[in-house]
Amino acid sequence: MLSMELEIGVQKAVPEQLKKKPDQTALGFGQYFTDHMFIMRWTREQGWHDAKIQPYQNFSMDPAAMVFHYGQAIFEGLKAYRGKDDDILLFRPESNFKRMNQSATRMCMPRVPVDRMLKALKALVYLDRDWIPTAEGATLYLRPTMIASEPALGLRPSDEYLFFVLASPVGAYYPEGFNPVKIYVEDTYVRAVPGGVGEAKTAGNYAASVKALTESQRKGYSQVLWLDALEHKYIEEVGTSNAFFVINNELVTPPLGGTILPGITRDSVLRLAKDWGMTINERMISIDEVLTGAEDGSLQEVFSTGTAAVISPLGELCYKGKTILVNEGKAGPVAQRLYDELQAIQFGERKDPHNWMVRVA
Ligand code: COI
Repeated sequence: MLSMELEIGVQKAVPEQLKKKPDQTALGFGQYFTDHMFIMRWTREQGWHDAKIQPYQNFSMDPAAMVFHYGQAIFEGLKAYRGKDDDILLFRPESNFKRMNQSATRMCMPRVPVDRMLKALKALVYLDRDWIPTAEGATLYLRPTMIASEPALGLRPSDEYLFFVLASPVGAYYPEGFNPVKIYVEDTYVRAVPGGVGEAKTAGNYAASVKALTESQRKGYSQVLWLDALEHKYIEEVGTSNAFFVINNELVTPPLGGTILPGITRDSVLRLAKDWGMTINERMISIDEVLTGAEDGSLQEVFSTGTAAVISPLGELCYKGKTILVNEGKAGPVAQRLYDELQAIQFGERKDPHNWMVRVA
């Protein structure tokens, strides 16, 4: 049930509950949380109800809650930006809630009312506006999350859900910032199979990736580049983001075929590149093509895109023990231009030709 009448209550933190704000120059990613959170509940009888902004706090859950056993959990990630003149801006927030509803459908979870969620998000960000960093490139990361809360052990969709939004002031996702990162091309473990849940932003996809991530980090890499599950041949995505290649001056990215995340930054990058007149190609790219391109010079750039990662150049790939240096390990001009343009739009410094930015205040 999508309750259009959903009222949103506000319970403000009292002065003793307000937290000390962190040093803006050392935020890292997702380590600090603001003074408030949004929360609401869903039951099959009542639909969404009890929607409120409240002081950030623990919640108590029955140990039999279905999320702990069968992992019905989905989430989103988006950011609030402090623009010039202290404007507060959100980047394509409706796209996040629409994608959350696609994830919900795949995971047999209830859909959220997009317009009400946007209202709740704006109210939360406005209430915690002093937490939006002013340091260059730093933002307020927002994490809408839905989990199955019914206490029951039979395997079926839960009849109760909890939805909440956390807000966290963040700096760059990778300590390298915009500097190129080193990536391990994973040829043993796989992330998603056709017909599976790869395109849903569900917690299990991330849990399944952690082993490959930690093993790659032990070898000195920041992330993994996933290959397809059937042939271990075609590029899928990077651990936390979508993969892009510049090959013979064309911008190439794997198509959305059900196994990769439909990234909102991915979509934005494709639109910007199209605006600039670049040839863009959503097609399958084999790891062999990448290797050959690195050898004959046709592979010009590799980078990844995501809300947390923004645009992250990939300077070095390791595949089956072989190191592939991309653009001499440096950030390339396309990644640089996309990063500059996207950040300038997001921080309200440049024209927003696609009306992506939503003003909070
Ligand atoms: C995001 O980019 O917002 C994500 O959800 C990826 C996560 C691993 C930080």
